[in-house]
Amino acid sequence: CSAIDWSDLFHQETVVYEESTPLCVVQVPTSPIPGQKTGTSGIRKRTREVTQTPNFFENWFQSLFDVLVERYGRTCLNRATLVVGGDGREGNQAALRTLLRIAAANSLQRLIVLGPDAIATTPAISAAIRAAGALGGIALTASHNPGGVDGDWGVKYNMENGGPAPDSFTSLIYERTLTISRYLEVEASDPEALCGRDGFDGVNFKRIQTVHRFRILPEGARDALQSPNPDRLPHSDGGRTFEIHLVDATATYVELMEGIFHFERLRALLRLPNFNMVYDAMYGSTGPFAFMIFGEKLGYWEYPWFRRGQYLPDFGGVHPEPNLENLADLVAEFFSDEDSPDFGAASDADGDRYLILGRKFVVQPSDSLAIMLDYALRPDFAAYCRFDGGLIRGVARSMPTSSAVDVVASRHNIRCYETPTGWKYFCNLLDAGLVSLCGEESCGAGGAHIREKDGLWAILFWLSILAYHNLQVAPGSKSTSVEDIVRAHWAHYGRNYYERWDFHGIERTTAERWMRNLERSVEGGEILSLRIDGPQLYAADVFHYQDPVDGSWARNQGVRLFFSSDRRMRAVLRLSGTSSADATLRVYLEKYVAPNDGDVQAVGELASSFVADIGRAALLYCGIVSELGRERPDLRA
Ligand code: G6P
Ligand code: ZN
Repeated sequence: CSAIDWSDLFHQETVVYEESTPLCVVQVPTSPIPGQKTGTSGIRKRTREVTQTPNFFENWFQSLFDVLVERYGRTCLNRATLVVGGDGREGNQAALRTLLRIAAANSLQRLIVLGPDAIATTPAISAAIRAAGALGGIALTASHNPGGVDGDWGVKYNMENGGPAPDSFTSLIYERTLTISRYLEVEASDPEALCGRDGFDGVNFKRIQTVHRFRILPEGARDALQSPNPDRLPHSDGGRTFEIHLVDATATYVELMEGIFHFERLRALLRLPNFNMVYDAMYGSTGPFAFMIFGEKLGYWEYPWFRRGQYLPDFGGVHPEPNLENLADLVAEFFSDEDSPDFGAASDADGDRYLILGRKFVVQPSDSLAIMLDYALRPDFAAYCRFDGGLIRGVARSMPTSSAVDVVASRHNIRCYETPTGWKYFCNLLDAGLVSLCGEESCGAGGAHIREKDGLWAILFWLSILAYHNLQVAPGSKSTSVEDIVRAHWAHYGRNYYERWDFHGIERTTAERWMRNLERSVEGGEILSLRIDGPQLYAADVFHYQDPVDGSWARNQGVRLFFSSDRRMRAVLRLSGTSSADATLRVYLEKYVAPNDGDVQAVGELASSFVADIGRAALLYCGIVSELGRERPDLRA
């Protein structure tokens, strides 16, 4: 932990307010709240549960600070910066105000609130942590989960590299929440002062480029002040300061994108006659970022391209996950016989996920990763998109993601890492320079520029692929569409037919017990002796992962069933780590067809017909029908 000079990172002139009423640190008794446990990506809870449980925010933030003090020491915190931002969902404003009181009381020197209104995408938070040399950051988000009072709320902590905290760190916070007995917060030292209970009432979170500087008296000062002998005030020289910096969230992020992609070429693409694009922000936090990139920077105003761009605390009742069901209107527009747009993209509420659409075509995220790798490896693509030093060091995908990217990697002698689900598992590989590109079936992709997946980055990547093909086209010749790009990829590398089946609303303890039994049957080999009609099981295992950088283990990360000796026909089963209440079971189905496996035309078929037999077999082998009583999935993605 070192003090850094960050002051001119955010360029513009700042207005500084010195708050005159000192704040006192007070200790408030509390007791543990069960279940404040981090899942795949932070804590996810029902909004109601969070807002109606007294001290929910206080307990978790205090536990976080206790762990920070333990790890870095109080002196370090006293010189440290943390960043906070979020997707703007219901509950975030209350959480932010609690965070200010707790951070001020726990010796933090500076909190950068990204904004306005603490609204920033998860990738922008990661970028800001890195740009500011901060100790870490707090993302107030439940990502793609629904918002509003009846929706979900979430929070996660990111480390100094900008990436989600590893299991070893989040488990310390969780342990702390189980024993917590007090939290520290600040109150006005003079009860008569107009400063208000939390002292932060005067902070206008809409007004970026301002700094508020508060004087914090040491712990115990309040009692000393009220004692008959106020001379005994500890450190009567005034204690320390706590600063709140309200910083424009878009500037650092957009600058980062300009350094990676060739904006002039993208501008030329968007200016091509008949090239129409649509972007759907699903009322999440990407609105201002997309507006600045596509509108202000790339000058794209012609087509009604910007959909649901305004952020709303309940996302307008929309489920802000970019899938075919939630984007039904947009998808219908792309599949209509009218002149549908050429390129469509959408992001989830916090902007780390993406989906790409072409005319009458949807790009499967696992295919998207493979295609990105293929282009990243083309030397002449470097003029459109820069990778760290122009070198692709390696690639990583989460285990349930299809092995389409492995096919490209092995063809080019690039190492492909297979990690558990969750972006945090990529971060060590990125930090160690082992990989330059990562991606997941769950609509995530990203590079080494930050330590989160990055929806707008992936969208700019795809626009760069289109620019690569279409800027040099001779007049009169046909342009290359999104569909052409994907089909050319399948024709060259073969196709990994892929589908995910989700089973929602399973009672959590039932689901967990069933999963433990399944793992036992797989590790004990019993599952291999079952006989069912349909594809026969060739091998099965439980996925355990050892991080190649720090040697840590993540065990029981899903069950894999292989239906062929080459492992190219498989089903993966795992419980979602992002649901807020009941459990969701995910079954991922995959079958590879090589381009020379007979008729290349077959490579154009619908994935569902190709993988249905593996899906049915997985349901029977794993007792999804007999033990969980589920015959068919609630969602196929
Ligand atoms: C979050 C993580 C991703 C992960 C996804 C899986 O979005 O950031 O890295 O792939 O969750 O979600 P699930 O619901 O399948 O656990
Ligand atoms: Zn997200």
